[in-house]
Amino acid sequence: MAGADRMQLHPISPDDAGFVAALEKVGMPISDLASSGGVYFAIADEQGEPIGYCGYEMPVEGIAFIRSCVVPEVGRGRGTGYAMMTALMERLSAEGLSDFYLLTMDADPFFERFGFKIISRDDAPDAVRSTSQFALEVCNGAVLMRWRPETRAGS
Ligand SMILES: CC(C)(COP(=O)(O)OP(=O)(O)OC[C@H]1O[C@@H](n2cnc3c(N)ncnc32)[C@H](O)[C@@H]1OP(=O)(O)O)[C@@H](O)C(=O)NCCC(=O)NCCS
Repeated sequence: MAGADRMQLHPISPDDAGFVAALEKVGMPISDLASSGGVYFAIADEQGEPIGYCGYEMPVEGIAFIRSCVVPEVGRGRGTGYAMMTALMERLSAEGLSDFYLLTMDADPFFERFGFKIISRDDAPDAVRSTSQFALEVCNGAVLMRWRPETRAGS
């Protein structure tokens, strides 16, 4: 995981110790990682050390529910989160997905940079509502965001 690989997403297990610790540190859900059926990734620095994590669930064909995106505090503000989200969205688009959702407590301005827009939780499709994260008490105060090609920033 070095050099040109830096911005690539490397699949990890839902019980990857660094991933779980990073989520736990910021109070993001870990209880449902293994049972979620989600796909999870790490992004690494030039030495191959993981510096960020993200993942998604596909609750129904065509919809990606992005989750568990975290850059440990020590490495924030250096473009890692941006590179990671860009790689994840490119990957999902390459898989033919074009309807993305996510929940966030307070990083909505970060996701708006990618064209995500806040929507009412009441407008969540059943498939998104059915994800375990949607029902978790810890996510009660989170806002729901949606991205589709036509919501791209500037369009
Ligand atoms: C959100 C998060 C992943 C961003 O990671 P990061 O590596 O610090 O992000 P970057 O350095 O790539 O930032 C890219 C830009 O977004 C901005 N940004 C980053 N986090 C932001 C936030 N929470 N709110 C508003 N803007 C933010 C940065 O200032 C930067 O702007 P600039 O290009 O003008 O300098 C990280 O702050 C984090 O792990 N937060 C806690 C977990 C979380 O909230 N996850 C989201 C829910 S899944």
